[in-house]
Amino acid sequence: MKNVTVLVGSLRRESINRKLARAIIGAAGGKLAFSFAEIGDLPLYNDDLWASPPAAVTRFKSEIAAADAILLVTPEYNRSLPAVLKNAVDWGSKPKGENVWAGKPVAIAGTSVGAIGAAVAQAHLRSVMIVLDAVVMGQPEVQIAWRPDLVSADGAVADPAVAGFLGGFADRFGQWIDRVGNG
Ligand SMILES: Cc1cc2nc3c(=O)[nH]c(=O)nc-3n(C[C@H](O)[C@H](O)[C@H](O)COP(=O)(O)O)c2cc1C
Repeated sequence: MKNVTVLVGSLRRESINRKLARAIIGAAGGKLAFSFAEIGDLPLYNDDLWASPPAAVTRFKSEIAAADAILLVTPEYNRSLPAVLKNAVDWGSKPKGENVWAGKPVAIAGTSVGAIGAAVAQAHLRSVMIVLDAVVMGQPEVQIAWRPDLVSADGAVADPAVAGFLGGFADRFGQWIDRVGNG
């Protein structure tokens, strides 16, 4: 079974994007093995730290390198992706020649309390990941306008239409990994 490492671009305990990530995991129905990567313990990016890389950085980079694929679930902050997620992406991209995103199948999803469901943040994130040579799935786009009752704490999706949509997204991602992954 393919293993997917999940990054959530929010450190908030009640993050709606973490709830969306759990909902996607549930919708995948056990066809992919998911694990969350911690990004809150990464220091702010600083080239000088490569002289003696912090344990959090080496751990994070190994997790990404070992993953068959990556799922990025992001909020939108001021019409872009949150700094905490960009920081993680930047650590993964360096040092020169050790970009762990290259060739990785990636899918992007997000939700916000606004009507556009983190669409602009996702578009920015997509353009960054493409430059880093990740193989980013184009469709379907998951732009969920959050409602308080949409996902319960255990990741169950109340609305059957949304549940079906997320299931389709997870299925397509599985196919994408098989098609573009390294085996
Ligand atoms: C600094 C900041 C900027 C935000 N900017 C946007 C925005 O541009 N568009 C939007 O739809 N929501 C915006 N929001 C609201 C977020 O959608 C909302 O806080 C959401 O709960 C964040 O996701 P999380 O619960 O996963 O942390 C912003 C929130 C913060 C804290």
